Amino acid sequence: MTLAAEPLLTALAAVVGTDRVLTNPADLAPYETDWRGHFKGKALCAVLPGSTAEVAETLRLCAQAGVAVVPQGGRTGLVGGGVPNDAGTAVVLNLARMNKVRSLDAMAMTIAVDAGITLAAARQHAATAQLNLPILIGSEGSAQIGGVIGTNAGGSNVLRYGMTRNLVMGLEVVLPDGRIWNGMRALTKDNTGYALRHLFIGSEGTLGIVTGAVLQLVPEPQRTTTAFCPVVDISSALSLLDSLRRAHFDALVAFEYISAATVALIAKYRPELASTLSVTTETGDCLLIEFAHMRASEEADAAIEADLGIAFENGWLTDALIASSETQRKAMWAFREAISFAQNDAGYSVKNDVSVPVARIPDLLSEATTAVAAVTPLAQPICYGHLGDGNIHFNFSPATPEVSGELRALEPAIVAALNSVVQSLDGSFSAEHGIGQAKVETLAKFRAGMELELMRAIKTLLDPDNRMNPGKVV
Ligand code: MLT
Ligand code: ZN
Repeated sequence: MTLAAEPLLTALAAVVGTDRVLTNPADLAPYETDWRGHFKGKALCAVLPGSTAEVAETLRLCAQAGVAVVPQGGRTGLVGGGVPNDAGTAVVLNLARMNKVRSLDAMAMTIAVDAGITLAAARQHAATAQLNLPILIGSEGSAQIGGVIGTNAGGSNVLRYGMTRNLVMGLEVVLPDGRIWNGMRALTKDNTGYALRHLFIGSEGTLGIVTGAVLQLVPEPQRTTTAFCPVVDISSALSLLDSLRRAHFDALVAFEYISAATVALIAKYRPELASTLSVTTETGDCLLIEFAHMRASEEADAAIEADLGIAFENGWLTDALIASSETQRKAMWAFREAISFAQNDAGYSVKNDVSVPVARIPDLLSEATTAVAAVTPLAQPICYGHLGDGNIHFNFSPATPEVSGELRALEPAIVAALNSVVQSLDGSFSAEHGIGQAKVETLAKFRAGMELELMRAIKTLLDPDNRMNPGKVV
């Protein structure tokens, strides 16, 4: 710590309490990395405010001292958006103590929360009123609502409910200079000029800090039908998606794809789960499909069973397992959610998060596999994701455990080859994980010109000194 930092630390302690300004290296360490330990940085301190007023005062003091601020949620992101750089001069701000539900309006189906509440806790509270906050991500137990909003999180229900952005009705934001913008309106219709909240959603803490939010809820489904289906190939998967969307539109909430190599990886990592689902390393591509019904009757199940039967007759599916209990349903989702952990276990993983128009997914899978194979034979494609909305996690694991180190060195070339295919298919290099520190250069490359100029102009307007999460996004 430099001498110049001392007055700031003293002033911050006076605002939030001495115990809530962490400077001891051991206390600070968890705040300087992400859950994978993939990104690491150094901070001056971590501040744990307990109210919007404390966040505002913290930001005012940091503005006065000219010190950078790195807002942070549950650190479950995949692009290093919440991790400070290694200068050791930034104040990390974590809102974990701001974890209250402010109110729930059952008639309007809205919930107002502090930004530090975890997604799981907000969902549990909504469920007490038989309502559902339909953001389905594996990290819900740690991810904080502020981070979910800051990154405009996606997940497995985007097909039906859209990205987080679609569910945010109002926001409370502390601006870089410490002013508080109260936009906590819970109105479906509010056509009053620029929709400011959308600037902050997905801005990854580069424009201000979200401290509260009003979120749209939906009725909790009365019945869920979940199916795990080995599928013949990716074209068959798309034929099935099209037929199910046309037949069940609103009820179809998830359509997840797991490639053959990914299925084999999970089957090795979680053999007990694989055997519950009658999956082996040889099963091939699989789909996890979920429907949510507003009526409790079993009729819908019969229609879905019939449609899957037709898919089998059409030669699209080789089998279909419909969950007959909540335990079996959970096993299906556990299999899907095990992917990241199975990949971590297999050595260094190159993570990608791309999207293309849904019909172009077969081209993406074949062309990018060929393009990356031309770069290196050491990268094994591990493709899976939210097929229903065109988002594939086009990841790579080492072809054999010994080449983990080589894979890391080859990452930039692999990602470049993938991204140029994605670009040629009119896709996006970052579908749901955001930009963080990992994709700043890629954003500058693929959004160069007017789009990047506008983004930089907005950044300069709100944060002229570039103190909010510097080195991230733009
Ligand atoms: C997922 O869908 O599982 C995540 O967005 C991707 C990941 O954890 O790699
Ligand atoms: Zn995902």
